[in-house]
Amino acid sequence: MKTLDDLLAEGVEGRRVLVRADLNVPLDGTTITDDGRIRAVLPTLRALSEAGARVIVVSHLGRPKGAPDPKYTLEPVARRMGELLDRPVAFATDTVGESAKSVTASLASGEIALLENLRFNAGETSKDDASRSAFADELAALAEAFVDDAFGAVHRKHASVYDVAARLPHFAGGLVLRELEVLGRLTGQPERPYVVVLGGSKVSDKLAVIEALLPKVDKLLVGGGMCFTFLKAQGHEVGNSLLEEDMVDTCRDLLDRAAGRIVLPVDVVAATAFAADAAHDVVDASAIPADRLGLDIGPASVTLFAEALAGARTVFWNGPMGVFELAPFAAGTRGVAEAITKVDGFTVVGGGDSAAAVRTLGLDEEAFGHISTGGGASLEYLEGKTLPGVAALEQ
Ligand code: 3PG
Ligand code: MG
Repeated sequence: MKTLDDLLAEGVEGRRVLVRADLNVPLDGTTITDDGRIRAVLPTLRALSEAGARVIVVSHLGRPKGAPDPKYTLEPVARRMGELLDRPVAFATDTVGESAKSVTASLASGEIALLENLRFNAGETSKDDASRSAFADELAALAEAFVDDAFGAVHRKHASVYDVAARLPHFAGGLVLRELEVLGRLTGQPERPYVVVLGGSKVSDKLAVIEALLPKVDKLLVGGGMCFTFLKAQGHEVGNSLLEEDMVDTCRDLLDRAAGRIVLPVDVVAATAFAADAAHDVVDASAIPADRLGLDIGPASVTLFAEALAGARTVFWNGPMGVFELAPFAAGTRGVAEAITKVDGFTVVGGGDSAAAVRTLGLDEEAFGHISTGGGASLEYLEGKTLPGVAALEQ
């Protein structure tokens, strides 16, 4: 796999370099609530710009349906990127149309432009090879070299991730390389005890990674919305909490096979509604009232999880423990995150939401071994799946 350093060694002065970044940041209206993914790609942009490249950055944001949708414009991201780089970043209001053509044509050496959301074009995510190819042809025509630094999107077989690499000399950016190196340490022979913490809303999203990790981990701590399907599988009533009825049997089977290595919350914060001002109490995990829903793990669970983490030598954490965006339901995520920072070993935070949680809760990023920019990408890597974006860089 050729890398950004190889490209820089070739020389990029005056060359047009297309950089695929993952700038899919959380937004509140047009306010970026966590700019971690923008900051993560800055070293690549700076290196190319300082070497005199004409830098053309592309990304997706959210999941628009293949047509322009102002809700998902990358314009606020261009502004923030300019602030962070302390230099102007030009913005094109389309991806391969008139605006992109004129903005990229007028770039001088060292200048940077961001194009509008790739997913405003149906070809980007199309399952049809021909339609993806047609879009990739247009993207490739904008540049002379391609750098993929969008680790968070390497699991997507999309035009800007997969097809464009076949059309231009292609190089892995520093972020992609660092992510692959760190996650590789987890799939090899991780130092034991190896403890994995999983949260987030759905068991079905995490099933493949649970199956892949179960034979390898000493403990799997389960919180977040997905814990209620496990609690139900243990025979508890979960009230109005998130529940995947069709996954209950699967969870029961996982609990049987795990032979005590899957650890579930023993108490939860149960609320009358999904709202910051809803009445809420800590209840036993086996006694969630029928008219309440669990929105966080409780303090006894935090203590239990912290005990399991205390002796760990390797930790991987994906998914918040509760609805951390709402202050009354943030303590579980904060408590578990703090326990991870105290681990004397190698700790990795994977997942857009958990990474955002670390920063929005004001935790010290430096206290973690690595904070991945990939959510689905890091999970699919740990599942052992072939990642189309990585495969394309290797060809
Ligand atoms: C992510 O947020 O996980 C990546 O940006 C990929 O986004 P996607 O799941 O919409 O493809
Ligand atoms: Mg996602």
